[in-house]
Amino acid sequence: MKSTLLLPAWASLALAGFDTWSPPGPYEVRAPCPMLNTLANHGFLPHHGKDITREVTENALFDALNINKTLGSFLFDFALTTNPVANSTTFSLNDLGNHNILEHDASLSRSDAYFGNVLTFNQSVFDETKSYWKGKTVTIEMAARARLARIKTSKATNPTYSMSELGDAFTYGESAAYVVVFGDKTTGTVKRSWVEWLFEHEQLPQHLGWRRPAELFQAADLDRYMQEIENITAGLEKPKPGGHRAKRQNSHFGW
Ligand code: HEM
Repeated sequence: MKSTLLLPAWASLALAGFDTWSPPGPYEVRAPCPMLNTLANHGFLPHHGKDITREVTENALFDALNINKTLGSFLFDFALTTNPVANSTTFSLNDLGNHNILEHDASLSRSDAYFGNVLTFNQSVFDETKSYWKGKTVTIEMAARARLARIKTSKATNPTYSMSELGDAFTYGESAAYVVVFGDKTTGTVKRSWVEWLFEHEQLPQHLGWRRPAELFQAADLDRYMQEIENITAGLEKPKPGGHRAKRQNSHFGW
């Protein structure tokens, strides 16, 4: 078994990247986010998952996924709000699981807080999500259908179901992200085998042909696809009798 604890600092730095991966050890922490967990497993983020700075976040998202540092910094600001220690300048991956800050009900691969652990992968929740991914390629429309289905299931089964406006914005962002940050932002698609591997193994599926995206990913790309998911969702939801579908007040994260 590989133990990073026994290695000098220079050696664990050398172990960060696409060619190295190991699951979290017993004293290491992880998030409700499959991608941040993956980046920690590869060492792009600290493997222990703790005390992550702005610079480390920006570099990890850029080095692994070609996400521009402005967007990385913007996401880091959200992450900071989950650290219960006032005025802190870092966050730990498990802080992200603090319920109803960023973490929300109706996740794609985690159970609702009411039912149990929001940090760890839940196969039956994920099975519902992936039943909406048909064929070898996942499209934005399939992502929109899966997202809506999880919300409907959660509303129907969780007596404490809630969704803040920010949580709602995150649901659009997460569904867009696994398709166009991780997949192809030009076609708005991703290989199904890649996403399934990411969620189920928290590892970059290089053995299935995944490579760091060649094009820089920016906030405008995410916003465009979040809008597309919202439009598709509006088409899927039946209008209420005698009324119109309730509309969110602010678009997305307020960009
Ligand atoms: C600093 C950057 C990031 C932060 C702070 C962050 C934070 C979060 C949080 C708090 C959740 C849990 C939401 C829930 O309750 O389900 C989450 C889920 C998720 N994140 Fe991230 N995330 C980041 C980057 C990314 C990136 C780059 C991707 C690209 C693919 C990504 C993809 C996802 C997906 C697909 C989910 C949904 C998981 C599920 O619903 O089971 N995230 N993220």
